Amino acid sequence: MARRIIIDTDPGQDDAVAILLALASPDELEVVGITCVAGNVPLALTSANARKVCELAGRADVPVFAGCDAPLERALVTAEHVHGKTGLDGVELPDPAMPLQDAHAVDFLIDTLRREPAGSITLCPLGPLTNIATAFRKAPDIAGRVAEIVLMGGAYFEVGNITPAAEFNIYVDPEAADIVFKSGVPLVVMPLDVTHKALVTAPRVAAFAGLGSHVGEVVASWTHFFERFDVAKYGSEGAPLHDPTVIAYLLQPGLFEGRHINVEIETQSPLTRGMTVADWWGVTDRPANATFMGDIDADGFFALLTERLGRL
Ligand code: RIB
Ligand code: CA
Repeated sequence: MARRIIIDTDPGQDDAVAILLALASPDELEVVGITCVAGNVPLALTSANARKVCELAGRADVPVFAGCDAPLERALVTAEHVHGKTGLDGVELPDPAMPLQDAHAVDFLIDTLRREPAGSITLCPLGPLTNIATAFRKAPDIAGRVAEIVLMGGAYFEVGNITPAAEFNIYVDPEAADIVFKSGVPLVVMPLDVTHKALVTAPRVAAFAGLGSHVGEVVASWTHFFERFDVAKYGSEGAPLHDPTVIAYLLQPGLFEGRHINVEIETQSPLTRGMTVADWWGVTDRPANATFMGDIDADGFFALLTERLGRL
């Protein structure tokens, strides 16, 4: 029985690879829907990009919903400097033919979680948590019906990538993250501590290109484009492939190691807004609310990813 998931996303090249990985794994994962949020680029672009990716995978049947176009309380911060103007710079993909669903993403989340059996849906947020938090605010009854939230966001040892203190997804909407981290829903967190160990090095990009498929060519172009920012900033040998770690966890959790700890979100301080304060060393008596990952088998991750992309 495939695990039923909703991917909440702000594509972004790495989001796009995560969506492809999920769609390439129908025996293990049923993508019930894709909900789009403003983040890397504005909502109009993220909701177009999500559909481009579904069509690239030959899955125009997947329902795609537009959600919130701005954070709960703050102005939107985007990341064109990392993802390019379209958010999906690399090989040009055709404009999507498949339509957006009429329903708002938040209503889709609420209706689906109320309709489907409790504990049957896993949420996979890959961007700012605005849609999820808005749904929980509008329908508090649904939080108890979510099986698990597996998200990319935050950092502890790696600290920030958009500010010295904060990771982008949490930074953009700290209030939304605070709602999700206090929701009581079982949480698995893929922070920069893990994703910065999943670098798309030249041999790994070559393996994507070596698939000899259009998907392989496109993914190689995305990861090549995407790496500019991180290589320039960190001098790393490739870009961290953040969001696919969420889907890889669902497919092979043994690729990851972490701790069940307390993680809280800074929402008050301008200096450290969006920081994920992770009690990794257990120095407080604050209750554990998240499985916070600290390590990844990077070779195993890329082997899984490349093999699955080869199926598309
Ligand atoms: O900080 C990395 C995260 O921000 C990733 O999800 C990337 O897609 C951007 O949304
Ligand atoms: Ca993302």
